[in-house]
Amino acid sequence: MRQSELMQDIGVLKRQAAEAAVAHVESGMIVGLGAGSTALKALECIAERLMAGRLTDILGVPCSEQVAEDASRLGIPLTTLACHPRVDLTIDGADEVDPQLRLIKGGGGALLREKIVAQASDREMIIVDERKLSDRLGMQWALPVEAISFGLRAQIDYIERLGATVQVRTVPEGSPFRTDSGNLILDCQFGPMEDPDSIAGALESRAGIVEHGLFLDLATDLIVASPSGIEHRTR
Ligand code: A5P
Repeated sequence: MRQSELMQDIGVLKRQAAEAAVAHVESGMIVGLGAGSTALKALECIAERLMAGRLTDILGVPCSEQVAEDASRLGIPLTTLACHPRVDLTIDGADEVDPQLRLIKGGGGALLREKIVAQASDREMIIVDERKLSDRLGMQWALPVEAISFGLRAQIDYIERLGATVQVRTVPEGSPFRTDSGNLILDCQFGPMEDPDSIAGALESRAGIVEHGLFLDLATDLIVASPSGIEHRTR
């Protein structure tokens, strides 16, 4: 199969996962709007339902500046956690998902706001195509870690001592990638993780590390799209 056909098929799967998730959005809900290409499909589905009058009174809490821009362009009304500290349902993507519904997120660099919104949500619904499923986290994806620039070398050394190889994420032009909060992203290659909880704990105990992309007990729902159909798992 040619690369363009493959990408088209994956686009269809992302849309199917998004449609299955958006079917759970009800009028009047506060909805967390995740980042990434799969979550963008959910934004499009929500916007279509609003336009068609099938949904009303939705307010979205965007997980990044880009999502806020996309949602506004699509006509989805927005709010903030300051105005609405509880979110009924968040729909977000993931980079890697294990059988216990644990996740690696942050491929787009939005992990901090994504985790804040996830923790404020009654339901955290993750939508993926089947390529994102892994027996163990870290098999396919480096773990994104958000860090402040002060003392960065010390943070890199610390994470390397935990067993990872670490790269500072850059933009295509070569300068460091900056998150919406102005921080840096370290892509930390741990390989398949035997104990993600201990890695999460070690990262959380270190000053200068703002957040990491391990979402270990946050997903309540997982929607997986594959050529054989949609699977909805819950926890
Ligand atoms: C954004 O920071 C990420 O957590 C995304 O949710 C994740 O990278 C999935 O993105 P795609 O749906 O584009 O693969």
